[in-house]
Amino acid sequence: LLPKEVTIIEVGPRDGLQNEKNFVPTEVKEQFIHNLSDAGIQEMEITSFVSPKWVPQMQDAATIVSSNFNIRRKLVLTPNRKGVDRALELGCDAVAVFVGVSNSFNKKNINKTTMESMEELKPIIAELKKKNIFVRACISTAFYCPFEGKVSEEATIKLCQEFVTAGVDELSVADTIGMAVPTESFALFSKLKENLQATLLTAHFHDTRKMALANIFAALQAGIDRFDTSAGGLGGCPFAPGATGNVATEDVVYMLERIGIQTGIELDKLVNAIDVIAPMIARPIESGYYQLAKKS
Ligand code: HMG
Ligand code: MG
Repeated sequence: LLPKEVTIIEVGPRDGLQNEKNFVPTEVKEQFIHNLSDAGIQEMEITSFVSPKWVPQMQDAATIVSSNFNIRRKLVLTPNRKGVDRALELGCDAVAVFVGVSNSFNKKNINKTTMESMEELKPIIAELKKKNIFVRACISTAFYCPFEGKVSEEATIKLCQEFVTAGVDELSVADTIGMAVPTESFALFSKLKENLQATLLTAHFHDTRKMALANIFAALQAGIDRFDTSAGGLGGCPFAPGATGNVATEDVVYMLERIGIQTGIELDKLVNAIDVIAPMIARPIESGYYQLAKKS
């Protein structure tokens, strides 16, 4: 049985832009976020507090979070104490932390082993919950790692469980390098759904091998009703070799609405949001929906 409604968590302003070499002016990012919220998006990662040496594109995070946006939560991504403190000082009410199941990936991404990251994050999560901050944990390399290959379901479920014990509100479980296939999506999300009933479960698919829509449909069948997507299909982690864009928000919204699942998002306004960011991106926007919208 498929859900009647789905929540889209837009990650374009964060995952979408972090891998772009050319700096996108802050005002353009802000306009992009405004247009996305005008299209009906309520949940969004608006930026990340990470080292500007590692990810120069996100160096304007403080300015971005200081603007007012019409969204449910001011959600930012960050891996450490420094970023969390900065986010709270600037009035964020939601934080997304991130850890890879695979050690080699976590080392490349955050310069720590998975266990070191967890030791750092557990007390931070407890403090955030005391302050009533919404906490989301992004689980990278939940299916495959660019360095270690296949990641076991057991390892992913174990890390998810650790985060739930630590008190997070949401888990965003990611196919970082877009290598999962629908049988794997269905199997993992069915098990997570069964074992972690009290936590919001979200699926985060990259579309590297064009499997993302199929994987989303499989996750829907496993009972998942929250998906991370990126307008224009932008995105990818700079520290995961070969990783390309997130699944395009417009393609996901088109599929869901055609199936009869409500998203609350208006496609024509989503196209307006992509129009703002497209000229800043070094490659053409490849999503089927956007290309067709531009031809007609
Ligand atoms: P490091 O070099 O080991 O640590 O980096 P450090 O503590 O020596 O920090 C280096 C510099 O960064 C210092 O500045 C710090 O102050 C500063 P300096 O003293 O040299 O001038 N710094 C910070 N600045 C701003 N905000 C912060 C912060 N922390 C330190 N929060 C570190 C360790 C974690 C900082 C680095 O590895 C890093 O920034 N990594 C982030 C990598 C990243 O952003 N990856 C992409 C996001 S994750 C992703 O895309 C996956 C996801 O989409 C799911 C999926 O698809 O899998 C979520
Ligand atoms: Mg990602």
